[in-house]
Amino acid sequence: MDAQQKTDRPVKGRKNGLYAGVSDELDASMRSGWADTERHGLEPSEQSGYAAKRRKALSAAFAGERLIIPAGRLKPRSNDTDYAFRPSSDYAYLTGDQTDNSVLVLEPLANGGHSAVLYLLPRSNRENGEFWLDGQGELWVGRRRSLAEAGAELAIETRDSRTAADEIAMAIADAPEVSTRILRTHDAVLEAALEAADAARRQNPEQAAEHDQRLKVFLHGLRLVKDDWEVEQLRAAVAATVHGFEDVVRELAWAIATSERWIEGTFWRRARVEGNDVGYSSICAAGPHATTLHWVRNDGPVRPGELLLLDAGVETHTLYTADVTRTLPVSGEFSEVQRRIYDAVYDAQEAGIAAVRPGARFRDFHDAAQQVLAERLVAWGLLEGPVELVLELGLHRRFTLHGTGHMLGIDVHDCADARCAEYVDGVLEPGMVQTVEPGLYFQADDLTVPEEYRGIGVRIEDDVVVTTEGNENLSAALPRRADEVEAWMRTLRG
Ligand code: GLY
Ligand code: MN
Repeated sequence: MDAQQKTDRPVKGRKNGLYAGVSDELDASMRSGWADTERHGLEPSEQSGYAAKRRKALSAAFAGERLIIPAGRLKPRSNDTDYAFRPSSDYAYLTGDQTDNSVLVLEPLANGGHSAVLYLLPRSNRENGEFWLDGQGELWVGRRRSLAEAGAELAIETRDSRTAADEIAMAIADAPEVSTRILRTHDAVLEAALEAADAARRQNPEQAAEHDQRLKVFLHGLRLVKDDWEVEQLRAAVAATVHGFEDVVRELAWAIATSERWIEGTFWRRARVEGNDVGYSSICAAGPHATTLHWVRNDGPVRPGELLLLDAGVETHTLYTADVTRTLPVSGEFSEVQRRIYDAVYDAQEAGIAAVRPGARFRDFHDAAQQVLAERLVAWGLLEGPVELVLELGLHRRFTLHGTGHMLGIDVHDCADARCAEYVDGVLEPGMVQTVEPGLYFQADDLTVPEEYRGIGVRIEDDVVVTTEGNENLSAALPRRADEVEAWMRTLRG
């Protein structure tokens, strides 16, 4: 179906705009006869209270400034079809809303604090035909919340987003001395409107970019420590992800008969049924593809006797994602060399997880895991010792390739723009959630390792929350130790 089908009948009537090809009789028919479906008496969602607290923290950090946090707009995929919409993470974090074309504006108040206004697309207009003739009309894309409904559920003042750019421009014209910051890269229309309204931005674009970046850096810092509600979302994401991994093991025979794509589709089905989507492109890497860190083409064969590295996470309906990796023997049992490599990664992960606790440096878990891997590489004769020198020169990195983990939350690589002092050079606090994901990768064409190692890649990844005492592995329900993985696979495959 496309818009043509709506107007392909040569009928008499107004011949311009939305109404081309619509008879006056049809126009009159489509305007009337619709029930009032407005929902009344809606209660604020559980999330709305948390979102209000986050806005309060943001308001306190940017006293006297205007802050603009857009959700983003639809992106065309091909001709007149769009990618599935996902709002910017910071917007969802501050509002609990997930709709396109929306924007949160915090306007500074004279006596301190901010007023918060959420600009949203309202229900479609039935008087001008928009609701059935426009590609984004509700008849095509589904019912939207009315502004009143959204306001009640999100516990925030709402206005029509089509007026947002003009209202921002007017506010700037009224008080040009008030500093404005916008969260960039999500809404080119609003950014252009802001630039047009704000002469200082045009005069010094670099300074404006830096000014805006501070808003992002602050938000990513704020997001480092998860509140209770967020930890619950991550638990739900992990629980659905565990189901997805179980589905994949159950369907391995289908994957062997087809390709890695079967695994991708199997996991995605679970993500769509239990959550919003996958939180990132699933890495379904069989055999030597496991040595490619972000193998997302997923178009290769799945062969008995080889390993399958599956790195995948379900994103909840609230947009929080798990990020879990298991490396599974396709035929159900590790070979001797596969187990040797797997056990080394497992031991490194154990050391990494043990180093996650409040007061530890964020880098500690990485150092602990890399120490184990370097020791093992030297013990196997793949690197010449001493281990200390290997670590100092970073020689092990030929086989370990990546950092041992990252923060996790509403983005899979969460809080990426937080200040180094708060994140990578910072200290862990209760409520932080991170992955622990060491790996060993021996490329198929690596002539420096014995042939039996070539083409083997192993990563084990879990999602860990820092607690007041130490940590909790949120993904502990998915077996990790080699013998437990084998037993789990046996049970699922019957
Ligand atoms: N799960 C993919 C990554 O952490 O890069
Ligand atoms: Mn990860």
